[in-house]
Amino acid sequence: MAIRIGDLAPDFVADTTEGKIHFHQWLGDSWGVLFSHPADFTPVCTTELGAVAKLRAEFDKRNVKVLALSVDPLDSHDRWIGDINETQHTQVNFPLIADPQFAVANLYDMVHPNANDKFTVRSVFVIGPDKKVKLTITYPASTGRNFDEILRVIDSLQLTAKYSVATPANWKQGEDVVIAPAIKDEEIPARFPKGHTRVKPYLRTTPQPNL
Ligand code: BEZ
Repeated sequence: MAIRIGDLAPDFVADTTEGKIHFHQWLGDSWGVLFSHPADFTPVCTTELGAVAKLRAEFDKRNVKVLALSVDPLDSHDRWIGDINETQHTQVNFPLIADPQFAVANLYDMVHPNANDKFTVRSVFVIGPDKKVKLTITYPASTGRNFDEILRVIDSLQLTAKYSVATPANWKQGEDVVIAPAIKDEEIPARFPKGHTRVKPYLRTTPQPNL
């Protein structure tokens, strides 16, 4: 069954390039990104894993653990990581699940048979410290993901988990945010002391509150 925002992220035990992982236990109190790849030794996936490795410090800064999945076996992953390190000029620094039986891929509905019944699509799940799914994105095999966008969404998720705000289109860290509709006008000065702009009764903006 499809996994939706707000669902408990299914738990699993899997073999990875960094040993056996009990998913929930491994996440601990961190946020998590679980993302799938169609197959080892494919060009777009090679660039994606390299891109994520280079962003490791950005994920760490946000208390996010990253876990990749491909439905090839461990020995294939180990050989492929050598290629990724060589061609992308980095070191893969996060675990890659070996899922040749499609156990995790099926649990997370990562195979979309009308696209391809042999490979996973490019699924992304962002999981909160409460183990609930906060975001799902699905890309086709032919399109590599923009991991700066994943970081941007995590910034929004982490901000809106703490404050009664939402982030507008194309928002980036440091820009004004939208005050949640549930907040009454009279509550705003106490809750958002940096000030606010009332563009419309339903559109009220304020400087990012946690800066
Ligand atoms: C790739 O990662 O390059 C890829 C994988 C499957 C289909 C097309 C591209």
